[in-house]
Amino acid sequence: MPLTRRALLGSFAAAALPPRFALATPLPLLQARPGRQKLAPGDFPETEIWGYDGTAPGPLIRVAQGERIQRRLVNDLPQATAVHWHGIRIDNAMDGVPHLTQAAVEPGQGFDYDFVAPDAGTYWYHAHNRSNEQVARGLHGMLIVDESDRPDVDHDLPLAIDDWRLEGETAALSGDFDNMHDLSHEGRLGNLLTVNGQFDPSLTVARGERLRLRLANVANSRVFEIGLNGLEGWLVALDGMPLDPVVPVTGAFSLAPAQRADLIVDVTGEAADLLSIEPDGGYGLMRFAVAGGSATRRPAPAPLPPNAMPEIANPAAAPLHTMRLMGGMMSGMAEATLGTTTMPARELAQLGKFWALNGQVDMAHEPFIDAARGETLRIAFVNDTMFAHGMHTHGHHFRAIGGDGTLGPWRDTLLVQRGESVQVAMVADNPGNWMLHCHMLEHAAAGMMSWFRVA
Ligand code: C2O
Ligand code: CU
Repeated sequence: MPLTRRALLGSFAAAALPPRFALATPLPLLQARPGRQKLAPGDFPETEIWGYDGTAPGPLIRVAQGERIQRRLVNDLPQATAVHWHGIRIDNAMDGVPHLTQAAVEPGQGFDYDFVAPDAGTYWYHAHNRSNEQVARGLHGMLIVDESDRPDVDHDLPLAIDDWRLEGETAALSGDFDNMHDLSHEGRLGNLLTVNGQFDPSLTVARGERLRLRLANVANSRVFEIGLNGLEGWLVALDGMPLDPVVPVTGAFSLAPAQRADLIVDVTGEAADLLSIEPDGGYGLMRFAVAGGSATRRPAPAPLPPNAMPEIANPAAAPLHTMRLMGGMMSGMAEATLGTTTMPARELAQLGKFWALNGQVDMAHEPFIDAARGETLRIAFVNDTMFAHGMHTHGHHFRAIGGDGTLGPWRDTLLVQRGESVQVAMVADNPGNWMLHCHMLEHAAAGMMSWFRVA
């Protein structure tokens, strides 16, 4: 496979700063603020970003399973914001969705987040107000919840994979967040790929060492096809939730925006790379310099200890709610409803709205589903558009139902390809008002947002 780099190898920014603690407050601060970061390689200047504690990704938050997470968000941005803790089956009041679970936090204001992380695994946090702009500017970070019984690895690596759109000469962040083409097509695709905010970072490992790679796609809209070179191993978790049995990695696999994949891999090559596979070859996301060691393989790891997930009993009998994904370029959507007003698609386009869920643009006054607490239900995502969408439920994971009725892995974000229909089953066991939206953030901004209620 041809292996090229996006640009010449350059020097890398220093490691992320540790979280700051203020003496006057009992909660550790999480400060959303502008910062500068060396993203583009070589002689390119630093890029002005927005980040938690001024870095992208923000500080790594890491706790033991069942532990409490407390952070005081301080908004030092020129825009209102809020933090969503993606994939955590959280207390609804802490879910970080303006207008649904809390008021947006205005510039100069704060908000105390205080919740328990019930499930072990790889999660992330990100801004949930004007997300297409705020996440693109860098407001995201990783959140790791450790199993009580951790697998034996030599390196445990949280890897936030991002896609930035920078201006050629200046390496300034492109400010066209609401550009009509991105909103109505594939979303904002960038021109610089980074891992943990660095272009093509490198880590020295030894042959035969075992690595846990915790991949999180924090990009607005790019679906990565992840490939490995010189690394062999297994997928052990998706969206935080363990796979049992573990699945050998035999080729590239896709990672949609917001999805996570945990891999346990052995260093088997004389050089090793994490790759983004594209039609014209493989691009290096991160390299592993291999020094010493021996090429002996270890046996497959045991599955990670399971999280306490609800039982999905008899999914075929569960009530079915159909959600049609509509709109975007070339879909032929004639009209849709914004608020309570039905409008021709061309008028919606003038408002920057291109997508609808069941004919509704943005969040309707009434929920898509009104579920009784503990109810098992099904959602059929029917993709009537020319694009793929990454459908995400807040506060709950779900399982896709296969053609033969078998249940797939627990996920919180599902890639639904164009023209595809997928049924998922879930147990609505977490009370509150929860968003259900496309995690291609331009699609969400341009209408692909809904919500459900569990009471
Ligand atoms: Cu990761 Cu509604 O978001
Ligand atoms: Cu979408």
